[in-house]
Amino acid sequence: KTGLTTLDIGYKNTGSTKSAITFLDGDKGILRYRGYSIEDLAAKSTFLEVTYLLIFGELPTKEQLTKFTSDITKHTLVHEDNKKILDGFPSTSHPMGVLASLFCSLTAFYPESLDPNRSSEGVYLSIVRSLAKMPTFAAWSYKNAVGHPVNYPDNSLDYCSRFLKMMYALPAEHYEVDPVVANALDKLLILHADHEQNCSTSTVRIVGSSKASIYSSISAGINALWGPLHGGANQEVIVMLEAIKQDGGNIEKWINKAKDKNDSFRLMGFGHRVYKNFDPRAKIIKKAADDVLAKLGINDPVLEIAMKLEEIALRDPYFIERKLYPNVDFYSGIIYRALGIPVDMFTVMFAMGRLPGWIAQWKELRENKEPIGRPRQVYVGTQSRAYVDITKR
Ligand code: SDX
Repeated sequence: KTGLTTLDIGYKNTGSTKSAITFLDGDKGILRYRGYSIEDLAAKSTFLEVTYLLIFGELPTKEQLTKFTSDITKHTLVHEDNKKILDGFPSTSHPMGVLASLFCSLTAFYPESLDPNRSSEGVYLSIVRSLAKMPTFAAWSYKNAVGHPVNYPDNSLDYCSRFLKMMYALPAEHYEVDPVVANALDKLLILHADHEQNCSTSTVRIVGSSKASIYSSISAGINALWGPLHGGANQEVIVMLEAIKQDGGNIEKWINKAKDKNDSFRLMGFGHRVYKNFDPRAKIIKKAADDVLAKLGINDPVLEIAMKLEEIALRDPYFIERKLYPNVDFYSGIIYRALGIPVDMFTVMFAMGRLPGWIAQWKELRENKEPIGRPRQVYVGTQSRAYVDITKR
């Protein structure tokens, strides 16, 4: 159409990934993991049960879940040499950078993971190791940022409680996990567990398609998630809401800023590449935010600002025409903050939640023996020309 010499940009397969894991309908606001609605799973399931469903395709029986949980618990401890890696990061390091590096280091401790033809037992072992060590690394990345000594996993606790204790326990004080906080975190991790071919999952698939190890593929996904347009948005939402609060709650001013073509500012937590109606996860999280704040007896002024901002934006033609609605990140930061999670750990929480999806999609591409990813392009550069000697340039 534009007279450009378009190359064949067809792909080896249909040009998009085929997957049986997660279904999204962006117009109807539908999200299903292996056919089960996100509403049902968030209300009735647990994070490890949903993790099993995403990775192995079926909800586990009681025995399967008990064995899966026990297998994960066996691998929560990390090699002491990981502390040398941690010590290499200044406390100014963003926890996502520390997490990505610690995760990739697993290829050093488990070099068998580099074998592209690993047995299914070997792949299962790398899956439970990934799930087991993510909370430990996540908590350690936080301890590195605050200059506190790291904690070791307490395997008498459940997945989320174990993480919270590693994150918050201090040698000088007794620490008890608040079950309200642990349950709220478990629900949040379910809501983040997978989301079809988003930026970070596509990254995991393309790295995994070169037969890189599961650990380096996940490490690449962590880095992709870090960006403020993707998983980093939950941190930016709170920064934005705080700025509006500092600005006397002048919401109209910030909405106009987001609409201003000459201003690069975007309403963080709004808009989505796929959801052009509403993000079902945002609806669930918004209600959970209410519940958690009420249960913890917290009155967070930014929640009021968030709800007011949503109300005003959804009436504004600019947002209506562009089908911009709150996404998963818009309310999640408010809950994380209520749970005492510091803002630069919000995206780490997203990574902890998204890990089962990354694993499931990496495993699927391997089982489908998919070819190496190799997107093509439309060349729009200069056409062929003769070389010019430097004396004539
Ligand atoms: C996640 O893909 C996934 O599934 C991701 C995710 C997951 O679970 O993995 O759901 C998680 O990443 C959620 C998104 C978190 N990011 C943010 O909240 C950052 C703010 N949102 C945007 O930057 C944006 O909406 C994106 C990146 C989310 C989606 O971008 P699109 O679909 O590519 O939209 P676009 O950039 O093409 O914008 C279309 C129009 C533009 O205006 P015009 O040029 O048509 O005039 O909408 C405008 C944009 O300027 N626009 C916004 C806006 N988002 C889009 N204007 C103001 N504020 C915004 N947030």
